[in-house]
Amino acid sequence: NISGRHVVYCRRYNNETAMAEKAKKLAGYAAVDNHVQDNQAVGVGSGSTIVYAVDRLAERVKQENLNIVCVPTSFQARQLILEHGLTLSDLDRHPELDVAIDGADEVDSELNLIKGGGGCLTQEKIVAGCAKRFIVIADYRKDSKALGEQWKKGVPIEVIPMAYVPVTRTIARRFGGVVVLRMAVSKAGPVVTDNGNFILDWKFDQVHDWKSVNTAIKMIPGVVETGLFVEMAERVYFGMEDGTVGVR
Ligand code: 5RP
Repeated sequence: NISGRHVVYCRRYNNETAMAEKAKKLAGYAAVDNHVQDNQAVGVGSGSTIVYAVDRLAERVKQENLNIVCVPTSFQARQLILEHGLTLSDLDRHPELDVAIDGADEVDSELNLIKGGGGCLTQEKIVAGCAKRFIVIADYRKDSKALGEQWKKGVPIEVIPMAYVPVTRTIARRFGGVVVLRMAVSKAGPVVTDNGNFILDWKFDQVHDWKSVNTAIKMIPGVVETGLFVEMAERVYFGMEDGTVGVR
């Protein structure tokens, strides 16, 4: 028997999910409409919000007959580009991108980001770093004053598998908090990234100077990349609950 309280909970959950999806779509569409033009090389991010941006990109390419090439940040992004009939490229052919559009797990008031909820942070950072403009798209739940306010899963850190234990210990000792190896949903083993590495999630227990912490963590042998994106994002589009788009 499904209780009345359960029905109310499910309805609220479905409403919230529908609202968040609408917000993701608003953000994705706004970024593509404001930043993509003919004859551009575009970096395509990963996650669920980017799906809406790629929908809009494909729509515009068809309607306006645009000449656009797309560079993916993950296997998921590659599949999205191909499924939408867009032109797939890479950094060998397009080492300089006009714009990269990507989602985020959290955005603070200074446009510092946590990324890598989907485990694609390394390729995402490489692609963003090759773009003249890095544009972020997110729903209202990602907006925060300080990192850690909204996103409770910590900073993802990609590591070489043989180094995950020493890196875990070093981060916890030097920066505090708790570091966990990200496991597959089945719990059968660790998540393995597109690059064949593991992901550590660092649940920090205080606000840090993110720029220096990012540099310090990157210096630990075995660390490939962190999900801290500092001084990279130029603009963030937030889809809001009321159907508007917030810009930061
Ligand atoms: C994947 C990412 C994603 O961009 C981030 O997790 C946001 O995803 P979503 O749009 O599904 O909220 O960094 O590594």
